Amino acid sequence: MKYQSQSVSKPYFIAAIGLFFGQIIFGLIMGLQYIIGDFLFPEIPFNIARMVHTNLLIVWLLFGFMGAGYYLIPEESERELHSPKLAIALFWIFLIAGALTIVGYLSLPYARLAELTGNNLLSTMGREFLEQPLITKVGIVIVALGFLYNLSMTILGGRKTSISLVMMIGLWGLAIFFLFSFYNPTNIVLDKYFWWWVVHLWVEGVWELIMGAMLAFVLIKVTGVDREVIEKWLYLIVAFTLITGLIGTGHHYFWIGAPEYWQTLGSVFSAMEPIPFFMMTIFAFNMVNRRRREHPNRVATLWAMGTGVMAFLGAGVWGFLHTLSPVNYYTHGTQVTAAHGHMAFYGAYAMVVMTMISYTMPLMRGREANSNLSQVVEMWSFWLMTIAMVFITLFLTGAGILQIWLQRVSETPMSFMATQDQLMIFYWLRLASGLMFLAGLLLYIASFFINGEPATVESRNPVGARGAAA
Ligand code: HEM
Ligand code: HEM
Ligand SMILES: [Fe+2]
Repeated sequence: MKYQSQSVSKPYFIAAIGLFFGQIIFGLIMGLQYIIGDFLFPEIPFNIARMVHTNLLIVWLLFGFMGAGYYLIPEESERELHSPKLAIALFWIFLIAGALTIVGYLSLPYARLAELTGNNLLSTMGREFLEQPLITKVGIVIVALGFLYNLSMTILGGRKTSISLVMMIGLWGLAIFFLFSFYNPTNIVLDKYFWWWVVHLWVEGVWELIMGAMLAFVLIKVTGVDREVIEKWLYLIVAFTLITGLIGTGHHYFWIGAPEYWQTLGSVFSAMEPIPFFMMTIFAFNMVNRRRREHPNRVATLWAMGTGVMAFLGAGVWGFLHTLSPVNYYTHGTQVTAAHGHMAFYGAYAMVVMTMISYTMPLMRGREANSNLSQVVEMWSFWLMTIAMVFITLFLTGAGILQIWLQRVSETPMSFMATQDQLMIFYWLRLASGLMFLAGLLLYIASFFINGEPATVESRNPVGARGAAA
C-alpha cells in the first residue's frame, strides 16, 4: 500500500464479504423453498427472500466497487485520497441504511414499508432489483455523489491515467443510470424501457468499464507488463462494450410492446456483446503469459484469470444462448434466464471484486502476499465456489430446457406449476451445488484468518528460485 488513505477500502471490503454471506444464505433458503414450497412460510415468503438475495448482491457489489475505487484512484493518481473522513462517514451511512432496509424487508409487509417510507410522495418501489424504499434510494444517491466527489477531487490534483479515467466513467455512469430508478411511469411499456436503462446499461455497459479498469489495475501490478500495452487493451474493451452494449439493450425490448425494429437491432447488437468479454479473457491470459515478474500473491492472479474465463462463459456464452429474438421467444423468463443471471453476475462482478480484494487486502494488512497456507485455502475456495457455480448454471439450464419443452414447445403444453413439478430433480441438484458454494465461501472467509510467514516468490516457486541462483 503506497498511500495511508487507501486503507479506507478495508471496511468496504469487509462489509462486502459479510453481505455476500447473507446473500448466499437467502439463496439457499429459496433453493429449499423451490422444493418445499412452504419452508419458512409465513416468516420469510419466497418473494421477500428473493428481494433480500438480489438486493444484498447489488449492495455488496457496490461496496466492493467503492472499496476498489478508494484503493485504486489514490494509487493511480499518486496522492492521498481527497478526504478519508468523508469516505469513512459514507461507509457507515451506507452500511446502516442498507441494514435498515433489509430489516424493513424482513419485518414489515412490503406495502406497509412503502407507506412508511414516503412511496406516496414519489412512487419508485416494487420493481425487480429496484425494490428499495425511496429514502434508501436517496441515500444511495447521496453516498454515490460523495464517493464520486471524493475520487474526482483526488484525480483532479494528481496523475491522470487511462485506468482511472475508465474507472471514473464507469462509476459516474453507474450513478447517473441509477437516477432512472426514480422515474416510474404508469405506462408499463415505458416503465420497462427505463427499468432496463438501469439494469441492462449497468451490467452490460458501465459496470463492464469498472470491471475492465479493475482487471487492468491488478494485471499491471501482478505481471509488471508495460502500462501502454495494458491501456491499449483497455481502450479496445471500452469501445466494444459501448458499441455493442448500448443498442444491445434491445434484447430486452422484444416482448414489452416496443417497436418491431428492436427485434433486429436487439438481436444483432447483443449478439456482438460477447466480443468485449472475450477480449477480457484474452487480455488476462495474454498479460499473465507476458509477465515480467513473479508476484508472490499467486491467488490474486488466479482470481484475475478466473474472472476473464467465467465472465465470458456466463455473460458471453450463456448470454448469447438466448439473445436472438427467435430463441428468446421460447426461453424468455425461464430457468435459462436464471442460469445466465447467476453465472454472469458471479463470473463478472463477484469475481472481479474478489480479484481486487485478493490483491489489496494483504497490502492493507502490511504484506505483499498472504502466507502459503492462506493462499492455498483461498485457492480451494476459488475452485469450490467457481465449480459450484458451473454446476448451478448447468442444472438450471437443464431445468430451463425441460421447462421450455414441456410448457412452450410441446403439442400439449403443461401448465406452469405442473411443469415445475417435473423439474424437481434439477432443483435438488441446484440446492446441493448451492451448499458446495457455501462451503467455498466459508473457506474464503477462513483464509483471512490464517496467518504465518508472508509468501515470497522463492517460497512458492522453487524452480524459479533455482533458476535465479544459477
Ligand atoms: C456481466 C454481464 C451480465 C450480467 C450480470 C447479466 C445478468 C442478467 C440478469 C440478472 C438477467 C435477468 C434479468 C431479469 O430479471 O429479467 C439477464 C437477462 C438477459 N441477459 Fe444478461 N447479463 C449480462 C450480460 C449479457 C450478455 C453479454 C448478453 C448477450 C450476449 C445477455 C443476454 C441476456 C438476455 C437476452 C436476457 C433476457 C432473458 C429473458 O428474456 O428472460 N446478458 N441478464
Ligand atoms: C447458494 C447459491 C445460490 C442459490 C441456491 C441461489 C438461488 C436463487 C434463486 C432460487 C433465485 C430466484 C429465482 C426465481 O426467481 O425463481 C435466485 C435469483 C438470483 N440470484 Fe441466486 N442463488 C445462489 C447464489 C447466487 C450468486 C453467487 C449470485 C451472484 C453472484 C446470485 C445471483 C442471483 C440473481 C442475479 C438472481 C436474479 C435472477 C433473475 O432475475 O433471473 N445468486 N437465486
Ligand atoms: Fe441485457
